Amino acid sequence: MTTIAVTGATGSIGRLTADLLTGAGLRPRLLAPRPQRLDTDLPTARCDYADGSSVRAALAGVDVALFVSGREDADRLSQHRTFVDAARDAGVQHLVYTSFVGASPTSGFTLGHDHAATEASIVESGLTATFLRDNFYAEVFGHFADGSGAIRGPAGRGRVAAVSQRDVAAVAAHVLGDPARHADATYDLTGPEALSLDEIAAHLSAVTGRPHRFVDETLDEARASRAGHGAPDWQVDAWISTYTAIRDGELAAVSGDVERLLGRPALTFRDALVGTDA
Ligand SMILES: NC(=O)c1ccc[n+]([C@@H]2O[C@H](COP(=O)([O-])OP(=O)(O)OC[C@H]3O[C@@H](n4cnc5c(N)ncnc54)[C@H](OP(=O)(O)O)[C@@H]3O)[C@@H](O)[C@H]2O)c1
Repeated sequence: MTTIAVTGATGSIGRLTADLLTGAGLRPRLLAPRPQRLDTDLPTARCDYADGSSVRAALAGVDVALFVSGREDADRLSQHRTFVDAARDAGVQHLVYTSFVGASPTSGFTLGHDHAATEASIVESGLTATFLRDNFYAEVFGHFADGSGAIRGPAGRGRVAAVSQRDVAAVAAHVLGDPARHADATYDLTGPEALSLDEIAAHLSAVTGRPHRFVDETLDEARASRAGHGAPDWQVDAWISTYTAIRDGELAAVSGDVERLLGRPALTFRDALVGTDA
């Protein structure tokens, strides 16, 4: 009997994945920094990527784990490396990691650098790996809009093949249910269409009933419009690079991996929004 763990279980991807595994009759162990927030009869454990001893204890006896990338943090890569080392020490055989499309040390989306380095650390650890390289989540674009419904950023006429979190979770559950078939595989998880931000704004308007619009910015305007947040430079760079990576075509490729793995088409951007708080 394979023991499965799901990290980030208090978050969107972890929760959706755990629900699908449970629906398939499996009983994953749910891990999170604050597991007391979980309302479940499944086994739970505290798991903070920065705290290797919590990871080792949480993963004791686990064969395969979904490793959901941690929250944006200047120290995120070091936290991920701590998690990977602790997973290996705990005897885990296989990690399924939520990475990012085109993850590379030179990704235009700056957080792609951490994803590439995390992938490398998993490979170097000797653990079996499956990398789910996710495009931007369709469900997050509504949260990029300001109070007037404007999504501002230097994306120009670039396109993005955003993927639904529901599809990412469905693929994760599919892989965790039969991990050996996906050993050392890398999947690009995208939606079925690449949309401009003008088109995304139109879908958001239609689904939410609130007007949305895309406002193209220069780089200087992007810095100025984010200055009031008081965020550190690395984070402002990451936010702006969300748009410049789209502008430069790095997120536009449509992959058939969701459909190949699940045997049904990937959700469209509009379908992904239905039933969410977008
Ligand atoms: N592709 C995209 O568009 C996109 C967009 C946003 C984020 N992401 C990345 O994808 C991940 C999953 O997305 P999501 O929507 O499920 O995010 P989410 O709803 O914010 O959930 C993240 C989960 O990871 C846990 N977590 C965060 N940092 C951790 C750490 N250092 N150690 C242990 N657990 C930690 C959180 O615990 P708490 O609930 O206690 O915080 C939560 O359970 C995010 O964490 C982020 O790295 C991708």
